[in-house]
Amino acid sequence: MSGDARVPTGVASIDRLLGGGLETDGVTELYGEGGSGKTLLCLEVAARVAREGAWVLYIDTEGVSLERLTSIGGLPPETVLPRFLLSAPKSLEEQTRAVATACALARGGSRPVGLLVVDSLTYFYRLSLAEPEEDDARLALSLEVADLVAVSRSVGIPVLLTNQVWRNLRTGGLEALGGSFLNHAAKSILRLERLPGARRRVVLEKHRSRPEGSAEFRITSTGLVDGGPD
Ligand code: GTP
Ligand code: MG
Repeated sequence: MSGDARVPTGVASIDRLLGGGLETDGVTELYGEGGSGKTLLCLEVAARVAREGAWVLYIDTEGVSLERLTSIGGLPPETVLPRFLLSAPKSLEEQTRAVATACALARGGSRPVGLLVVDSLTYFYRLSLAEPEEDDARLALSLEVADLVAVSRSVGIPVLLTNQVWRNLRTGGLEALGGSFLNHAAKSILRLERLPGARRRVVLEKHRSRPEGSAEFRITSTGLVDGGPD
């Protein structure tokens, strides 16, 4: 895919914000508090990519809902699941191996890969914080991210990473985990916020070619839908 190519998320308000969809030559980071819709957005894009016939490499540290995945778009599981290569690491070491395997599969080219997801990139890293292994974990994570950036650029596929948040007690605000290297490595950064009920806001914090802005979407039983312009 060319540098200007986009992979639509399928959520019209988010696609408008992104100028058509996810970039195919760089990493997109989603961050936000629990329940803000990070996993649902990953599943929405993944189901769409698989439906269109490309493979999805999905690294899931939190127990993704396959039932939820197959309810998106109302398609029978057999049209979506065969294109999924799912990995469920149980430690940062296993995550590192899963990322290496996914990058090798994407580079190998034996299957047409259309999307690589890591949800959540920082779950195991978070567990290491304030522990003796924190520095090793940060290094492992930064090497993973560097490989993911490289594979996105060289193969031309979107890489979607989710990131957890912590509350900065000095400012009272929620900040992305994972340190500044992740914020530099990600070419696009979207912050998701909870609104009342099923409504959610998505804020475009960083993009190479789009202005900052925000949009809304809603969570429904069959997936995410446009919430209209902000
Ligand atoms: P963490 O992984 O915990 O950080 O959260 P997340 O940002 O990944 O949130 P996720 O994508 O799992 O969003 C779950 C949200 O969707 C929760 O608030 C659920 O209550 C909501 N949800 C799940 N299914 C439905 C549904 O069918 N209808 C509605 N309205 N909400 C739903
Ligand atoms: Mg999640």
